[in-house]
Amino acid sequence: MQVEQTFVMVKPDGVKRGLIGPIITRFEQKGFTLAAISLRSIDRALAERHYGELKEKPFFGELVSYLTSGPVCAMIWQGEHAVENARSIIGKTNPVEATPGTIRGDFAMDIAGNIVHGSDSPSSAEREIGLFFGSGAGAAAAASTVPTHL
Ligand code: TYD
Ligand code: MG
Repeated sequence: MQVEQTFVMVKPDGVKRGLIGPIITRFEQKGFTLAAISLRSIDRALAERHYGELKEKPFFGELVSYLTSGPVCAMIWQGEHAVENARSIIGKTNPVEATPGTIRGDFAMDIAGNIVHGSDSPSSAEREIGLFFGSGAGAAAAASTVPTHL
């Protein structure tokens, strides 16, 4: 049985503020295994597809502009209940409500710049991993990953 994977992305302001390292550290400390990582820019088309389910929201334009404003750090993390465990250490969407000790609770002030993305379900994770790393990338990464937390 394949272990669960999730898609995590340090958003542009997180990269600019030098928070890739602290965010990776938290995932490692929690017990996740890193399966793939890519520092890259994303264009509007990819940002719009990634957040496709939000396209009717009033903040969608601002969200896409934000996401394309600089490089992001896209990652596949795997482990037990990867999706839920990642959401738990990332914290609530609005940093005002995110508990201290979570990534957003500790590093972010405003919902429009909440530092990091984590998939909200295993099916979203598969879709997002496919968008950023190519279809089949998740399985390939899992096959070649050496678990660091046994
Ligand atoms: P959403 O998927 O609801 O949150 P999450 O990232 O926790 O899964 O929304 C995606 C992003 O859209 C969110 O991280 C920040 C942005 N956003 C806003 O800018 N304003 C808002 O009112 C909401 C709900 C989200
Ligand atoms: Mg979401």
